[in-house]
Amino acid sequence: MHILCAISRRKIASHIIRAMSRRVHSESPPPRSIKRAKMDHLTLESFKNGVVLAPMVRSGALPTRLFALKHGASLVWAPETVDKAILHSERSVDPVTGVISYNGKSRAIWTTHPIEKPYLIYQIGSADPELAVQAAKTVMQDVSGIDLNCGCPKPFSTHSGMGAALLSNPDLLCSILTALREAMPPEITVTAKIRLLPSQADTLKLVERIINTGVSALTVHCRTRNMRDRDRAMIERLKEIVEFVKGMGKDIAVIENGDCLGVEDAKRVREVTGAHSVMIARAAESNPSCFSKTPLTDVHETLVPAYLRLSKYLDNNWSLTKFCLSQFKSPHTKSNGKAEDKRVRETIVKSRSFDDVVGIAGGWTGEEDFKEIVRAIETREAKVHEELRLSTAEVQQAISSTAADSISTDDVSQSVSILSRVVEARSGCKYITPPGTQNPHPPASGAPLISDAPRLLPALISGQDPLTPTPTGGTPLVTPVL
Ligand SMILES: Cc1cc2nc3c(=O)[nH]c(=O)nc-3n(C[C@H](O)[C@H](O)[C@H](O)COP(=O)(O)O)c2cc1C
Repeated sequence: MHILCAISRRKIASHIIRAMSRRVHSESPPPRSIKRAKMDHLTLESFKNGVVLAPMVRSGALPTRLFALKHGASLVWAPETVDKAILHSERSVDPVTGVISYNGKSRAIWTTHPIEKPYLIYQIGSADPELAVQAAKTVMQDVSGIDLNCGCPKPFSTHSGMGAALLSNPDLLCSILTALREAMPPEITVTAKIRLLPSQADTLKLVERIINTGVSALTVHCRTRNMRDRDRAMIERLKEIVEFVKGMGKDIAVIENGDCLGVEDAKRVREVTGAHSVMIARAAESNPSCFSKTPLTDVHETLVPAYLRLSKYLDNNWSLTKFCLSQFKSPHTKSNGKAEDKRVRETIVKSRSFDDVVGIAGGWTGEEDFKEIVRAIETREAKVHEELRLSTAEVQQAISSTAADSISTDDVSQSVSILSRVVEARSGCKYITPPGTQNPHPPASGAPLISDAPRLLPALISGQDPLTPTPTGGTPLVTPVL
């Protein structure tokens, strides 16, 4: 399944690059890329073996998410948007850049771009199942998953029963998740992000209920509602939770959140917690390249100019851009690094628009930066694709051994069978999805079944997008990030 996703994501990226190059001559939007993006979707496996960008109001703006993806984030969470806010917005697509805006009366409430859709989880703040469903339906064409914020301790969230207030109202929390799972099509994942409860026993009870709603993954911020970010995250409490979820016999990823510094540090976190994946907030807010094994240093020189150009190109709100830049921090490697960093910061603080920072942004246009991001996403998918590309000889060999065994007379199962033999021969492990597997979500989800995957192998060989990919469980086919 990862192969299928990789191929189709790669095609999305190529389409967007082509659309972007065409735009010099044409003002038309890149509708093909948007259409393509609709065919891709996340699976239970997508939440495993990854390092992901946390939801962050303001700091998780579109350019930050794109840079996080460029530097290796496996998935990106959008900042929490309260259900009612998005309901009254109007969706528009920039005909030049392809940026999609959900506009309120005076400003864009949320923006996204089709290039991030295969990796994008939209986070809802809600205390009402119906409103949550309406909000999810409003954005579902542009996202791959919906997450419910059950951890925000700020009064603006909790006073209306949202965020961390849901932790003490598990009936409501679970009814929102159940309603979302029932209302969303199966290709849209539903997940939740919680905090630890003061008692481990209560946390486990809550986790059990959440898992039984049919979520595809659960993120646990390893602090309690009353803990501040400066308090050390209690990550050692997560191990028991991970084991508990495994013990439930569900193949659901538990994602650790709290105090992870970057992709290398995520190894430590996974070792201590046994978590399937790790979510990073503040370290990524300081440096969105922390997802790379070699994060950028001297960000005032290496990242700030590119961030400015991209933000201008994507028409990212200036104040938001300025705020995000003000959070950037990294080690300096040059003797004058500190002084230069200070100079850049001061210039940005004084600036009132993108026009005032041309000297920092440098010569390139943001379109080039955007293309580089698209290429980076394409390259990482291409790597997976290359690793698993089927040679003619391998296909022939698999076809003849399948035919000899007369595994099936049905085209689809025969194709799957051929594919599984090739993959088994390559990786030495069993193909993860048995032929005929239908539903990527647990039965409790109430999600309708998807029909079987037609023409699976021909799609792989021909490079056409598969229609209904359906993985679940087993050994991942993609080399783990960690
Ligand atoms: C600026 C900022 C904004 C945040 N906004 C959200 C949000 O919208 N939704 C959410 O669930 N958590 C939000 N959080 C919490 C983070 O997602 C994360 O749970 C917390 O910062 C702990 O992770 P860390 O130790 O890696 O920073 C925010 C955190 C920060 C610093």
